[in-house]
Amino acid sequence: RFAYVNGRYARHADAAIHIEDRGYQFADGVYEVCEVRGGRLIDERLHMDRLERSLGELRIAMPMSRAALGAVLRETVRRNLVRDGMVYLQVSRGVSPRNHLFPSADTLPAVVVTAKSVARASGDKRAEAGVAVISVPDNRWERVDIKTVSLLPNVLAKQKAKEAGAYEAWFVDKDGNVTEGSSTNAWIVTADGALVTRPATVGILKGITRTVVFELAARSGLRIEERAFSLDEAKAAREAFITAATTVVMPVVRIDDQAIGNGTPGSIATSLREHFHEFAE
Ligand code: PDD
Repeated sequence: RFAYVNGRYARHADAAIHIEDRGYQFADGVYEVCEVRGGRLIDERLHMDRLERSLGELRIAMPMSRAALGAVLRETVRRNLVRDGMVYLQVSRGVSPRNHLFPSADTLPAVVVTAKSVARASGDKRAEAGVAVISVPDNRWERVDIKTVSLLPNVLAKQKAKEAGAYEAWFVDKDGNVTEGSSTNAWIVTADGALVTRPATVGILKGITRTVVFELAARSGLRIEERAFSLDEAKAAREAFITAATTVVMPVVRIDDQAIGNGTPGSIATSLREHFHEFAE
C-alpha cells in the first residue's frame, strides 16, 4: 500500500508526518472521506466544496488547487488498486515548533492521502441485517459543522457503541433531540412516510451523503422534513437510518433497547440505499 505525504508517495508502512505537525499536537486540521466505487470518486465536487469551507473556517490555506488535489486523490486510489473502498484526505496547518498561535504565514499546510479497499459485500450484508445504535449525550464543541480531525468525543462514543453491541452512537443534545451519529448523519421516517433529519444550521456536520439523499428523496416523491427530532420520536419511528460516505444509507433496527418498526430494515431506507448511486456524482 502507498500513502501520499507532502508531495510524495511513500510506502504505507513507512509514511510518516513530523512530530511537530499541528494536526498531531493540536488536532489543528481538517479531513474528508470520499467513497470509491468502481475506481471512481463519489461526489468529489461536493467533498472539495466542503474541504474548502472547513479550511476557510480555520483559516488554513488550500494546500494546492482543487484540480491538483483531485489528481492526488485519484493517483492514491490508483496506486492502491482500489476499485471499491474509500479515500482519506487530511490537511493540517503544517509543521512548526509547538505554540498555540498560528505559525508564520509561510508555513505550508501538511497533506496526507490514503486509500483502502472495502468489499462492497460487507456493507451490503450489514445493511440486510440493519444496525443497532445507542444514544449518548452530545458533549462536543459548537463548531461540529467544520470537519476537523478533532474527534475525541466521536471516538469515545463509537467505542461505547461497540462495547454495547451497537454499530453507531447517536448524540443527543440538551433538549433531548438527536443531533447526528459519531461519524454519520441520523434520519427517521414518520408513520406517513416522510424523511426527517436535523437542519444543518447548527449541531451537525452537513453530510455529503445527506445532501444527495435529499435529491434522491425529492425525485422519488418522498417528503422531507428538515427539523429537529427527539430521541423519543426516533424510538417510536417507522424506520430509522444513518448516512455517510463510508456506510451510504444504512438501516437502523434498534435504538438503545427499542426495536425500530418491526426490528428489520425499513423499506424506504433499503430503497434509498439501492438507488443512491444513481444520484451521486
Ligand atoms: N464521517 N457526521 C459526522 C460527525 C461525520 O463524521 C460524518 C462523516 C458524517 C457524514 O458525512 P458524509 O455523508 O459527508 O460522509 C456526518 C466520515 C465518513 C468519517 O469520519 O469517517
